[in-house]
Amino acid sequence: MSKTFKRYMVTSALPYANGPVHIGHLAGVYVPSDIYVRYLRLKGKDVLWVCGSDEHGVPITLRAKKEGITPQQVVDKYYKIIKESFEEFGISVDIYSRTGNKIHHETAAEMFKTIHDKGGFIEKTTEQYFDTEANQFLADRYITGTCPHCGNEKAYGDQCEKCGTTLNATDLINPKSTISGAVPILKSTNHWYLPLDQHQAFLEKWILEEHKDWKSNVYGQCKTWLDRGLQPRAVSRDLDWGVPLPLPNTEGKVLYVWFDAPIGYISATKELTPDWEKYWKSPDTKLVHFIGKDNIVFHCIIFPAMLKAEGSYILPENVPANEFLNLEGDKISTSRNWAVWLHEYLREFENQQDVLRYTLTANAPETKDNNFTWASLQAANNSELVAIYGNFVNRALVLTQKYYEGKIPQPSLLTQADEDVFSETLKLKKSVETQIEAYKFRDALRDLMQIARIGNKYLADNEPWKLAKSNTERVQTIMYVALQLTARLAILSEPFLPFTSAKLKKMLNIEAVSWNDADKKEILAVGHQIGTPELLFQNIDDEKIKSQLEKLEQTKLDNAKAEAVAKPQKPVIEYDDFVKNDIRIGTILEAQKVPKTQKLMQLKIDTGIDVRTVVSGIAEHFKPEDVVGKQVAILVNLAPRKIKGIESQGMILMAEDFDGKLVFVQPSAPVSNGSTVQ
Ligand code: 2FM
Ligand code: ZN
Repeated sequence: MSKTFKRYMVTSALPYANGPVHIGHLAGVYVPSDIYVRYLRLKGKDVLWVCGSDEHGVPITLRAKKEGITPQQVVDKYYKIIKESFEEFGISVDIYSRTGNKIHHETAAEMFKTIHDKGGFIEKTTEQYFDTEANQFLADRYITGTCPHCGNEKAYGDQCEKCGTTLNATDLINPKSTISGAVPILKSTNHWYLPLDQHQAFLEKWILEEHKDWKSNVYGQCKTWLDRGLQPRAVSRDLDWGVPLPLPNTEGKVLYVWFDAPIGYISATKELTPDWEKYWKSPDTKLVHFIGKDNIVFHCIIFPAMLKAEGSYILPENVPANEFLNLEGDKISTSRNWAVWLHEYLREFENQQDVLRYTLTANAPETKDNNFTWASLQAANNSELVAIYGNFVNRALVLTQKYYEGKIPQPSLLTQADEDVFSETLKLKKSVETQIEAYKFRDALRDLMQIARIGNKYLADNEPWKLAKSNTERVQTIMYVALQLTARLAILSEPFLPFTSAKLKKMLNIEAVSWNDADKKEILAVGHQIGTPELLFQNIDDEKIKSQLEKLEQTKLDNAKAEAVAKPQKPVIEYDDFVKNDIRIGTILEAQKVPKTQKLMQLKIDTGIDVRTVVSGIAEHFKPEDVVGKQVAILVNLAPRKIKGIESQGMILMAEDFDGKLVFVQPSAPVSNGSTVQ
């Protein structure tokens, strides 16, 4: 039997305040946790949900260096952007705090002290990498090298993002400083370690035996870690940005960011309520951490080991981690700007929060990595939200205005089909609950949409508009049933589509309702007055999608340019070799694509010597009509050769940019055909 809890403590991974949030963060963590918490609140549960900025660690100082500002300016800037965009997007956290707050520094320091005083750390002097040019130790992301597990050449000193393994900097092969690029030296320093090996037996029992219910990706990653054997892990760093180590004579040392960040959940709760302890220390509280898959080890192994070592805290009941979301087939990347940024979406798609929430939930990477495409957002909006949900609600409400001046009509006897609509949608409501409670938000959303589909079909099958004159009694019943369904939908949509739900409840004039009101057959009493119907969703046209795709295309070009380097020079040749090339200026007279090929174009060129045919690989870059009339440089004494059965008598010269784009090499002013190039 599953345990019953008196209250819920929900946390969502604290985003690093080193950049804005993108759709990957939303789909992985913030939208699912928002659905979960909104649902619990509607059920009347005692629930607190905390989040905030993760303001320490090397990601922040690296960003500061890149932007030429201080770490404090970095965290202030992104804290504000993230907090405001979350609010506008309807991420309904009870508090969005920050680990730069005094209360957090105190809470993290106190946790460290308590564990320290209980003998829960080991102090060790070891050799650590040191950059002699920058005169500092190289912790975490200050160092890169090859991952010893998967060979990724860009692994960080604390983690390989490719295979997800957590590393110590000294594990890296060919380490390099990210500050100066220098090869670091080893220098001795002392640090405090959490002896995870001493917690191995406990963690094995707690996770592998008692938490078989965790999602398979989470359980699997924990098992791999435990099977490999846990090692002591340093929880202090030689850095000047972070929570100072609360021990004497430790100047220049701070807590490791992954030690202080999860404590941020506790500090945020303290900031929220003086009653915080019952949410963190009572076994009646269900603690749930929503995270992305790269955070699994920290939340399932390291943080629980810390809490256990401290001794007075509860451990998480579940850690529903999602996999990653890709964008148009490529990994989302902050550094390559390959992302849909939330604050930009909100600007470019005004009042369309629910469209993105819907698309991200319907495609949530719950069991495997998934792909977001702009085409999928357009399809989700136009074919589902507009065509099914919006259409059903609009028809029901407009007809009610038209027939009954917005009053719920009196039904007569319900047919079996009417009863089925009630019972099927009630079953779906129960299923939505079961799926949410099992963290299966995609399935829950599918069930919710099924209610709208049933409503839409019900109106299409019963066609009240055809009976309006002949059978008013039946029309009243049909409209009564349809209206009760819209109300059921309005209530159950709240966790998933909060803006739509609020709008619909306002139109139905039922603003104060709870989740279980959706159990009632009659949610809207006969005679209840509803408001003026408005459209819930608008179609998104092709132009809008095209402009987003063009934006991404531009990012690709910018990245290619930034990453590109000129090809190395070819071997040296003698002057006499060069002058063998007879290059002239000619004019393209005719052009046509070579049939059955992608790349080839057949050109007729006036070289000043003669008019000749040249086959050139430019067809993917130009249209025939665009090249006719252009003066080009042509190598005229190249031995003729047959290409696709056409004899090509020369070669035109093109410049190829780093991204593969071709342009003509042309004289800067018109010259006579046959002019030489030398
Ligand atoms: O991966 C990240 O973005 C981290 N900043 C998450 C921290 S979660 C928590 F422990 F605070
Ligand atoms: Zn790796």
